Amino acid sequence: MRPMIIAIDGYSSCGKSTLARQLAEILNYRYIDSGAMYRAITYALLRKQVDLDDIEAIQQALQDICLDVKYDPIQQRSVVWLNGQPVEEEIRSWEVSEAVSRVAAIPEIRAFAVTQQQAMGRQRGLVMDGRDIGTVVFPDAEVKIFMTADLHTRALRRWKELREKHPEISVEEVERNLRERDLIDTQRTVGPLKKADDAFVIDNTYLDEAQQLQVALDHVKAVAQNLPA
Ligand code: DC
Repeated sequence: MRPMIIAIDGYSSCGKSTLARQLAEILNYRYIDSGAMYRAITYALLRKQVDLDDIEAIQQALQDICLDVKYDPIQQRSVVWLNGQPVEEEIRSWEVSEAVSRVAAIPEIRAFAVTQQQAMGRQRGLVMDGRDIGTVVFPDAEVKIFMTADLHTRALRRWKELREKHPEISVEEVERNLRERDLIDTQRTVGPLKKADDAFVIDNTYLDEAQQLQVALDHVKAVAQNLPA
């Protein structure tokens, strides 16, 4: 099977990363979490206290941001590095989650991230998940998957992940945050979250991880069989 690009897009907390990681492992492809790149940029801007309404200050700050995605053999997963430091923990904080959709809507920031994401796909053999991967970053991806699930189901899943670190955050608050992020992600002018016309839709509201993986794998195999040799 010749190496492909698998683009996985969809709403926040839909299980995109879980599916993307599993597919990459099975196919022996690289996995890139593009959301982690937007999170790392957000973390860098918050740390520098850059005014998010000041485009010049943002452009200036971007010049000092060097992102990398490296495989961590201990965690057995790819992690984002910011200016020579792994920042996986920091980028998952509630503060970053609250600000990231706003940061990711800024066209200059999207251009900065998309250029790097496209460079990562040059050798193909890659699974990348995000919001605009099948529409903007890799419109020629062989496989495009669009994931969705009921909002309350997504909020419950995310709340269960968060509750150990943030017992003060209620399911309602998580649901509010997700609704707001969905709105910002789908309404922004540059690279909005949108299903590519040729994407295969997986609604996993009633699917468990194993079922979702099977549906995706069946689709990948079907696409691969129809590719020219
Ligand atoms: O997948 P995630 O929740 O970690 O993504 C964090 C944020 O980054 C999310 O609010 C949307 C944004 N994002 C984006 O705009 N484009 C992408 N390709 C990936 C993520």
